[in-house]
Amino acid sequence: MGRTVALLNQKGGVGKTTVTLGLASAAAQAGHRVLVVDLDPQASATWVLGVDPDDAELTTAEVLGKAKASDAIVESAWSDLIDVLPSSHRLQANEHGVPSRLRTALAEVSDQYTAVLLDCPPSLGNLTTSGLTAAQHAVIVVEPSALGLRGIAGVADVIDDVWDAHNGDLELSGVIVNRVPAVSGEADRRYGELVRIVGKKAIWQPVVPQRVIVNQAIGERRSVHSYGSRATDVSAAFDALWAKLRRAIR
Ligand SMILES: Nc1ncnc2c1ncn2[C@@H]1O[C@H](COP(=O)(O)OP(=O)(O)O)[C@@H](O)[C@H]1O
Ligand SMILES: [Mg+2]
Repeated sequence: MGRTVALLNQKGGVGKTTVTLGLASAAAQAGHRVLVVDLDPQASATWVLGVDPDDAELTTAEVLGKAKASDAIVESAWSDLIDVLPSSHRLQANEHGVPSRLRTALAEVSDQYTAVLLDCPPSLGNLTTSGLTAAQHAVIVVEPSALGLRGIAGVADVIDDVWDAHNGDLELSGVIVNRVPAVSGEADRRYGELVRIVGKKAIWQPVVPQRVIVNQAIGERRSVHSYGSRATDVSAAFDALWAKLRRAIR
């Protein structure tokens, strides 16, 4: 088992960061401590959690070098139960690190948390390999659109490759479907296609609905839960997915 979870997809904009933060927020609501590790040089998760990436002296870039994770981790502005290992644009230069380095660094801090969530960049390069090498669970985030499903087989192949070369503890724990519109024949067809590709059991329920409030929350650097009744269905989806994730890591 193990509690470190990589959320990934090589495609950008499918909701890796949104889902990572939604799960972190649900965890804190339930009284659990979590660590969000930002592996994207664009540092969206860092910024949304209220940490300015330009102010962060030690980030995942330095932790992939020699820095200790505990020296880089800071408390988020959302909750004292949510810590963040910030990212910065310096991570861009770090495409050639040793894959096991992050795993070693996180092993020193992970038992302080119920879960460690790794927000991977939109690529299948060295940073995602580092994330998968550090994790025991891989969760693919997808969107039910034609472009959102493209390349998902490639993501599964990379998980297999990392399992083979660097991390025998890694398993593909599931697929989270994000941004599902209330009514759409196209989304329904794509969902059916996804079921054929990954199998019904791999898809975690519930799916995350498409809602304007999600986009607004990101822009205002707030959690969906902080909007109360204005975001009930989205918050409830993340609460249920967090419960699912807890069962997966136990
Ligand atoms: N369920 C959703 N409903 C509405 N907008 C969403 C939803 N999920 C993500 N978004 C929006 O889509 C954009 C990309 O999401 P993001 O989480 O940054 O994707 P990724 O991390 O995969 O690149 C963000 O502006 C976000 O607010
Ligand atoms: Mg992202």
